[in-house]
Amino acid sequence: MSMQRIDDITNLKRVLREHRQGGARIGLVATMGALHEGHLSLVDALRTRADVLVATVFVNPKQFGPSEDLDRYPRDLDRDASLLAGRGVHVLFAPSVRTIYPEGFRTTVSVAGVSEGLCGALRPGHFDGVATIVLKLFNIVAPDVAIFGEKDFQQLAVIRAMARDLDLDVEIVGAPIVREADGLAMSSRNAFLSPDERVRASALSAGLRAAQDAFRAGEQRGARLCEVARTVMLASAVHPQYLELRGLDDLAPLDFADRPSVLLTAAYVGSTRLIDNLILSRS
Ligand code: PAF
Repeated sequence: MSMQRIDDITNLKRVLREHRQGGARIGLVATMGALHEGHLSLVDALRTRADVLVATVFVNPKQFGPSEDLDRYPRDLDRDASLLAGRGVHVLFAPSVRTIYPEGFRTTVSVAGVSEGLCGALRPGHFDGVATIVLKLFNIVAPDVAIFGEKDFQQLAVIRAMARDLDLDVEIVGAPIVREADGLAMSSRNAFLSPDERVRASALSAGLRAAQDAFRAGEQRGARLCEVARTVMLASAVHPQYLELRGLDDLAPLDFADRPSVLLTAAYVGSTRLIDNLILSRS
C-alpha cells in the first residue's frame, strides 16, 4: 500500500473508516515535522502494534508562546513525507492551520497538576496547546494506539492523564529517547545549534548520566543528584533552567530517589532551548 497524503479532515475520516470497517487497527504518530530518527523510531515501534499507520505533521501554533520559535520552526513537508513513506506509513495527515483551527475556534483543553512546573512553569499555556491538538487529532483519527516519545516526558504524562480523565479509547505508548552518538537527545531543534553549541549541547545528557552514576553508587538525595548533573552542565557553560528529580509515574517532586524516579532538565544552548531526561535505574 503506497502512502496517501491527506490534508482535509472529512477525507481522512472517510479513508480511516474504510480501514476500520475492514478490521484494521489504527496507529497514530503525531509530529510537528522536521523528522529525525527519533520520530521514525516511533513509526517502527508502532508497526507491530497497528495495521494502518497514520502520521500527522502539523506545527501547532497553540503550543508556542508569543516569544517562542514558531516562525523559525523547521518545515520541510516533502522531505518528511518521503521519510514516512520509506518507513511504511500508510496515511500522512498534514493539515493547514485553518483546517485545524477554523475561524471562531474557541476550545482549550487543560490538564491540571501534571501540566504545572517544569516546562509548564516556563512555557505558560504550552501544555494546554499540546492537550488541545492531541485531543483533536485523537478525535479525527480515532486511533486504537498512539505513540509518543519519552523525550517529552512531561508531555507524555499530560497526554496519559488526559486520556485517563476523559476515558479516551486509545492505548498510549511511550517510546525511549533516541540519542546521537555523544548522548544528545534527538530533537528537531538540534538543527538550530552552531557547531560549537552542538558540542556543548551534549552536556545535558552527560550531566544526567553523571547523576545516574552517582545514583548507582548509592546516592539517593535529589539535591545531590541534581548538583552532580548541574556541575557537568556548567562545565560546558550550559545553565539549566530546571533540573529536578520527579516520580516516574506521577511526576511528583521528590527529595529522595527511593521510588522509581526520573531526572528532568531544560537548558538554553545559545538561543536554542533543549530538554532531556533520564529514568534512574540500578543497572
Ligand atoms: O511532540 C510533538 O511533536 C508535539 O508536541 C505534538 C505531540 C505533535 C503535538 O503538537
